[in-house]
Amino acid sequence: MKMEHDVLRDPVSAVEVKHWRDDFPALREKVHGQRLVYLDNGATTQKPQAVIDAEAEYYCHYNANVHRAVHALSERATEAYEAARHKVQRFLNAAAAEEIVFVRGTTEAINLVAQSYARPRLGPGDEVVISAMEHHSNIVPWQMVCAQTAAVLKVVPINDAGELELEAYERLVGPRTRLVAITHVSNALGSIVPVAHIIKVAHERNVPVLLDGAQAVSHLPVDVCALDCDFYAFSGHKLYGPTGIGALYGREVLLEAMPPFLGGGDMIAEVTFEKTTYNELPHKFEAGTPHIAGAVALAVAIDYVQAVGLDAISAYERELVAHGTAALSEVPGVRIIGTAPDKASILSFIMDGAHPHDIGTIVDREGVAIRTGHHCAQPVMRRFGIPATARASLALYNTREEIDTLARALHRVREVFC
Ligand SMILES: Cc1ncc(COP(=O)(O)O)c(C=O)c1O
Repeated sequence: MKMEHDVLRDPVSAVEVKHWRDDFPALREKVHGQRLVYLDNGATTQKPQAVIDAEAEYYCHYNANVHRAVHALSERATEAYEAARHKVQRFLNAAAAEEIVFVRGTTEAINLVAQSYARPRLGPGDEVVISAMEHHSNIVPWQMVCAQTAAVLKVVPINDAGELELEAYERLVGPRTRLVAITHVSNALGSIVPVAHIIKVAHERNVPVLLDGAQAVSHLPVDVCALDCDFYAFSGHKLYGPTGIGALYGREVLLEAMPPFLGGGDMIAEVTFEKTTYNELPHKFEAGTPHIAGAVALAVAIDYVQAVGLDAISAYERELVAHGTAALSEVPGVRIIGTAPDKASILSFIMDGAHPHDIGTIVDREGVAIRTGHHCAQPVMRRFGIPATARASLALYNTREEIDTLARALHRVREVFC
């Protein structure tokens, strides 16, 4: 990683972006003979060389299982794995490393909370509040636990811009609400949810809040203490880290009171056939061999993002979103879905006369990778009366020129279809 990242001026210059781009080998790929323009970062980000090297170094030099053996390699692996947990703790500003549970990703984190926190506490008629802009990962686990307990799912509506209807939210959080589970940033619309307000309202009624941070952590600084949230989930692969690793932050007092999610090795204190007692936090929630290399490389991804600076990333990406909004709006027939003033790095759109899948296929021929479909948020599509959108999702290494390439490719789509 280049040390120039440590000191950034504002606004971010093209030279700095070029430095960042140089750190990501996948950005040098060509597709269909064209230079890759990667605008599918909401699905997963590319990885800097430092992250790729960290995984390789782990396997080359200290691959061993953690928490199990007294031999030197195992101690090295354990140290690195636990150091990664401390890194995540500081990244989220959690009060203690014990509040960080390594999981496969956001999906697993939310399922863990649904089954270990919510299930024992929900009874018939109790309520879980989510919103109409959730990813399926923050819908289905709650539907499953509601079906198991006869609890009821309540959904906060969104307006035409793609913002939460806050008055409706305040009405929905009532005496039967046991948990609020809301996204921090919408993956389909880009809307940034006013989560501090969401938490304040819920806490006034003694209701804990889980935030789905999958689309937030790479775009905004997150401080779980300042937010006072109870659970926060994110995936490493959307934060320039590896796939298969993510983290759940949980308030210690809540995690302590929760039963384990999965049973197996490493999560126990003592096992007899009559009775098993469980390990202390956070190991109680990490059954089996974890993704050690993933955790180690996630820590390096966090270093990377912090060296660039989340404030700089956030400011730069806001400029890109503004540029992208203007550029796409100039393409005849294009309508942007999700026009909240407070938006992060997502440009979802439809085009008169062209199906999003056709848009995706044609722009791919120009080297531009975007996502098309319902983005695992079918209720959002239904809310806007559309089957799908095309979505460009931005990262710190994207440029205005790349957005202009997308806009030019969209003009070509129009020539084909309209
Ligand atoms: C808002 C949101 N929540 C949850 C997820 C699920 O993340 P993962 O597949 O990494 O578990 C995603 C992935 O796109 C997402 O965008």
